[in-house]
Amino acid sequence: MQKNYRRDTLSMASRLFAPIELRGTTLPNRIVVAPMTQFSADDGVAGDWHFVHLGQFALSGVGLILTESCYVAAAARNATSCLSIYSDAQERAIGRVAAFINKFGNGVFGVQLCHAGRKASAKTPSEGGGPRPVSKGGYQAVAPSAVPVSPDWPVPRELTINEIQELIETFSSAAKRVERSDASVIELHGAHGYLLHQFMSPLSNRRTDRYGGSLENRIRFPLEVFEAVRSVFPSEQPVGMRVSATDWAPGGWDIDSTVHLAKELDALGCDYIHVSSGGLATEQDITVGPGYQVEFAAEVKRHVDMAVIAVGQISEPHQAETILRTGQADMVALARAMLFNPRWPWSAAQELGDDTFYPQQYLRGHPSKWGNRGMSIAGNYSFESQPKK
Ligand SMILES: Cc1cc2nc3c(=O)[nH]c(=O)nc-3n(C[C@H](O)[C@H](O)[C@H](O)COP(=O)(O)O)c2cc1C
Repeated sequence: MQKNYRRDTLSMASRLFAPIELRGTTLPNRIVVAPMTQFSADDGVAGDWHFVHLGQFALSGVGLILTESCYVAAAARNATSCLSIYSDAQERAIGRVAAFINKFGNGVFGVQLCHAGRKASAKTPSEGGGPRPVSKGGYQAVAPSAVPVSPDWPVPRELTINEIQELIETFSSAAKRVERSDASVIELHGAHGYLLHQFMSPLSNRRTDRYGGSLENRIRFPLEVFEAVRSVFPSEQPVGMRVSATDWAPGGWDIDSTVHLAKELDALGCDYIHVSSGGLATEQDITVGPGYQVEFAAEVKRHVDMAVIAVGQISEPHQAETILRTGQADMVALARAMLFNPRWPWSAAQELGDDTFYPQQYLRGHPSKWGNRGMSIAGNYSFESQPKK
């Protein structure tokens, strides 16, 4: 989709606001809205909340707006109020958001496809979190192995080989729905202890068949899902994967395994890798702070050609710019900072002395246009400064 990037006005002073090409898709800048589950969908259908929540980032000129985890099947959902894309109604609802972003923003819209695996059938944070038992309206969770999230969670049912093949098909059907909804990018959620990550980590995958045991076997399912999704998604539209670089727990998934997976994804034509961490092991021991996961992105970047997204407490424009300029990543994703200030790209452009997209309707709000002006005779606000008398 051809967009107006206002290249004429971009000074290109910063890396943050330099466009980036992923396949045949150009992102107007390197700012990504990270996926953020809203627990606000009605039986998986994106409603007015999603329309406004995601749409606001289009008005702010974000380069890539990713949905929250969007579930590929009913039994895959973390909670029933999670966004999903396995029905026509859900597909249409995502399409409504995509149409707005495609028409009014300059950025690109992407859907994060997810299966919760053993984390399925949970209570929402407002309900106190934790598992929702089948006896209380929950549903049976499946996983690579019958290993629960923690002793407080029900034991998931181990997937059969046939079910694994069916799940690959399920992801592929969801990818076709994403295409029909007119979103431009797919991100596979391979992080935070969800199904793909559960296959990768030796802490959750105890299988003894070709989907478990060695590193090659544990990454087989994520790679097969990637290939299936890539093969049905239009060739000019990017497919990336989000990963947890480490489980932060002894005996768990680690950065070396992540680099190995990243190289395999790169060879299969993956367009980007989005490097997060944690979320699988209850015993995880993380020291968080500004940019605490950037070193993992940088390590992955040293080994791959595909684009790398850094995420995790990136909130300051100069911090983001430094990550890009020092070659630690190609894009930066922001979650909480973007909730706090959805106009973050505008403030960042100002701070970095760069220019960026403002919707035509909002141009007069830019401080450079305030000047000394008043109401025109016709009732329209005048852009021009009033002549001094
Ligand atoms: C409200 C909220 C919901 C989140 N939901 C998701 C999600 O659906 N999928 C995902 O991959 N990460 C999710 N995350 C993690 C963020 O994408 C991000 O990786 C994390 O918040 C660190 O980035 P930050 O320091 O910029 O907030 C969520 C984070 C927040 C704050």
